[in-house]
Amino acid sequence: MSHNASQRTALVVLSHHRQDSLTAHIARRTVYQLESAGYRVDLLDLHAEGFDPRMNTADQPDWNDRDKPYSPEVEEHMRRILAADLIIAVFPVYWSYAPALLKGWIDRVWNYGFAYGRSKAKLAGKRMLWIGLAGATADDDVIPVMHTMLENQLSAGIAYYCGLSDSRIALLPDAEERPQRLDAHGTLHIGDAVTGTARDTHFAEFESKAAEYVAEFLTSDRVPA
Ligand SMILES: Cc1cc2nc3c(=O)[nH]c(=O)nc-3n(C[C@H](O)[C@H](O)[C@H](O)COP(=O)(O)O)c2cc1C
Repeated sequence: MSHNASQRTALVVLSHHRQDSLTAHIARRTVYQLESAGYRVDLLDLHAEGFDPRMNTADQPDWNDRDKPYSPEVEEHMRRILAADLIIAVFPVYWSYAPALLKGWIDRVWNYGFAYGRSKAKLAGKRMLWIGLAGATADDDVIPVMHTMLENQLSAGIAYYCGLSDSRIALLPDAEERPQRLDAHGTLHIGDAVTGTARDTHFAEFESKAAEYVAEFLTSDRVPA
């Protein structure tokens, strides 16, 4: 792909352990959508790249030194973030939150002196879209609650805390082929899998909903004056 200085760059952060997952599929479609819209894309596949989400001594912040050099691996991730105008994370919702792999990436890489703790935020002006795939069905009462939790945790708690100019949650329910419902007694009922054309329709709608969120996010993308 050609690369010119004015080309906008997007970092797509995929957080899933299986290449054949719906999450990885949506991430790949997102990459294609961004490239078709003229973006240069850096796909960061956390699992495939062997990212270790566990905090360690080298990457633990030193509150007395905001210029502490972190591990070479983390410094490289920081460069990839700095090079991006947009960041799009694609992940399965686990316990109404980001999975440990993505959370660990935030913990280790969005570190003191880099992502926060400076009078002039290094990440200021960047925009972020969080695409979370959820097993719950769209009509489950847990969905609006989950949306609010993700908004609070990821947008308010992380992105805006780090000075990003825009952070949005794209919550995609119905990620499972078999609908799941918890009854009043705490029993999980797993319904029949959708099959045939109903299955094709289900996933086509799922894909287009994801693409709509991305398209809407890109519509508001402006080169800073
Ligand atoms: C550890 C774990 C926790 C989960 N927590 C939730 C949850 O809180 N809410 C929800 O709707 N789905 C939850 N799920 C279902 C996943 O969101 C769902 O399996 C996933 O989005 C499907 O996409 P995939 O096939 O790409 O993994 C959970 C799944 C796992 C394995």
